[in-house]
Amino acid sequence: MDLIIRGAVLPRSAARGDGPVDIGIDAARIVAVEPHLAAQAREEINADGLLVAPPFVDAHFHMDATLSYGLPRVNASGTLLEGIALWGELKPHLTQEALVERALQYCDWAVARGLLAIRAHVDVCDERLLAVEALLEVRRRVASYMDVQLVAFPQDGLLRRARAFDNLKRAIELGVDVVGGIPHFERTMADGAESVRLLCEFAAQKGLRVDMHCDESDDPLSRHIETLAAHTHRLGLHGRVAGSHLTSMHSMDNYYVSKLLPLMLEAGVAAIANPLINITLQGRSDTYPKRRGMTRVPEMLAAGIDVAFGHDCVMDPWYSLGSGDMLEVAHMGLHVAQMTGVDAMRACFDAVTFNAARILGLEGYGIAPGCAANCVVLDARDEVEAIRLRAARLAVVSRGKVVSRSPAVRAALALDGRPQQVDFKLHRT
Ligand code: FE2
Repeated sequence: MDLIIRGAVLPRSAARGDGPVDIGIDAARIVAVEPHLAAQAREEINADGLLVAPPFVDAHFHMDATLSYGLPRVNASGTLLEGIALWGELKPHLTQEALVERALQYCDWAVARGLLAIRAHVDVCDERLLAVEALLEVRRRVASYMDVQLVAFPQDGLLRRARAFDNLKRAIELGVDVVGGIPHFERTMADGAESVRLLCEFAAQKGLRVDMHCDESDDPLSRHIETLAAHTHRLGLHGRVAGSHLTSMHSMDNYYVSKLLPLMLEAGVAAIANPLINITLQGRSDTYPKRRGMTRVPEMLAAGIDVAFGHDCVMDPWYSLGSGDMLEVAHMGLHVAQMTGVDAMRACFDAVTFNAARILGLEGYGIAPGCAANCVVLDARDEVEAIRLRAARLAVVSRGKVVSRSPAVRAALALDGRPQQVDFKLHRT
């Protein structure tokens, strides 16, 4: 075998029994998961009772804007709308080289954090499709160790911006994977509903998945998710559609939500919350009490709806923080949603791993024979400890190869009290 990871504790969603297992890897596939693997390998990692999970998956990100913080200026108000305006100011000054360079730098950060799959919304409202070309190039350059899925995202509105639909179609022809949208940003509710219809019909015709920024608003009457669920059901797109953000649901009437959630379940529409961004961008018009703005995560999970958490932004016009750490995302999601029960905390770990992988439609995801040999050895004993510590990623394995290592951060565990320098440098393959 190429690699054996011994003494691995698996996340509850991957474990078939109690106790540590050995994971055998050969030719970029997991070939054995057993308590005691007799085989030998060219390389071995002793996990020694630590958590070995499939890699983190970011279900919602903006890779064309990442690491552009401060260009051409910072977002003074910190609001969503100033962020959109600021991105509009930056767009004419973007170059393909700079976009590629920033995105590749972010991919290095991501891999070092055990984040090996990202769904990235790419703005298609620029006539040149500069960002589309750049991220297609990035997707190609990282393909040997990372999955990047691109969403054609009409940031300025499908109907509000002239030629946006044509540009979106061109982006799909160039190889962008998923159909995006932003119905709440169209001029009227009616235009928003019409954009959802047009985009769902286009996706059905092309056999593509759909992931729309949907109801990213504090307006309880922003109900495009209802329209998205209805068209998903009408067109038979079950299991291929996600609503991103859905923050208006936070403010909706409870009775209306009791009708809405079964509609989403019936249509197989998944939800993607973005806790770090929702908690900072929503509720901005409120005095006190201030709404949290994140969608109803525990209620949707209880209803059987698939829910993932996304990072959304890292150091861009909307968010000046972040480092590609999906455990930080899970940590914030847990707090905002008050998901502090043991099962609920584990569900937050699943929201940045298994659930996100399912929503992206990743093949061979998991820790089982036949799965792709992608995993991360965490300096934690279980999912809850991993979130608590934002645990060090001791080793990151992609396509059967160790692509990143970080030392244990014992200071965080307060075991010996001596801080250590963490090296996040990626040894790119
Ligand atoms: Fe977004």
